[in-house]
Amino acid sequence: MTKIWLVGASEGIGRALAQELGKDHSMILSGRNQERLQELNPYRCFPLDVTAPDISLPEPIDTLIYCAGYYSPMSAAQIDLNAALSMVDINLSGAIRVLNAVIPHFIAKKQGHIVLIGSIAAYRGLPNSFGYGASKAAILHLGENLKCDLAKYNIKVQVISPGFVKTRLTSLNTFHMPSIMTPERAAQKIISAMKGNTFESRFPFFFGNFLKTLSKLPYFLYFRLIGRR
Ligand SMILES: NC(=O)c1ccc[n+]([C@@H]2O[C@H](COP(=O)([O-])OP(=O)(O)OC[C@H]3O[C@@H](n4cnc5c(N)ncnc54)[C@H](OP(=O)(O)O)[C@@H]3O)[C@@H](O)[C@H]2O)c1
Repeated sequence: MTKIWLVGASEGIGRALAQELGKDHSMILSGRNQERLQELNPYRCFPLDVTAPDISLPEPIDTLIYCAGYYSPMSAAQIDLNAALSMVDINLSGAIRVLNAVIPHFIAKKQGHIVLIGSIAAYRGLPNSFGYGASKAAILHLGENLKCDLAKYNIKVQVISPGFVKTRLTSLNTFHMPSIMTPERAAQKIISAMKGNTFESRFPFFFGNFLKTLSKLPYFLYFRLIGRR
């Protein structure tokens, strides 16, 4: 049975993933909120703050899913410095701290599977996405780095980019969120992507691929189309 370490399992997409993956796999669940993790019995709970400097591997694993994340809607015209730095610390630096604990283990056993939960907000700069968009663009880039360096150790690397999902994270958004889906549906999409070999996959299909296509446009056209010339 595959052993999966799921970081960011206490809420939202990670919680739905834990419940679905736990039907067929052995799970180690991390996040800061121990009580919420323990409600997900009978899986092993390994409370963790990804901003802590000393993250270690809980036990030998086969798969890492990094799903911890933080988002605060923000315009560059009104920066909330603490929130902006938290987004980078949790979304990007936290992933690096966890990977630092996992990669030597995967290299030693010449096998492993790393899944980074990114975002379709990673593809190009969007309005009111200061800090978050940059952290997710960096996650996609980090995944590319991992893929380049770790393929020879038989380590599979995937970045999975969700669109809008109805969770605590998006609850502060006041704008219309196209094709928003439930965490349970998002978990199904992630599990399906994990079974394949695509490096970067996205959902929902139409909105995700629309943003991906926009990202290929020349900048002058892109900024004109999104109304920020
Ligand atoms: N919701 C969306 O529309 C959407 C879209 C694209 C991508 N995503 C990405 O999907 C992932 C999950 O988001 P979500 O919507 O499910 O958000 P969520 O409901 O707020 O859940 C976030 C998870 O991250 C954990 N977390 C946050 N800070 C942490 C820290 N310092 N240390 C350890 N764990 C921490 C939380 O656990 P604790 O609070 O217990 O620590 C929680 O389990 C994130 O990477 C997010 O960027 C979400």
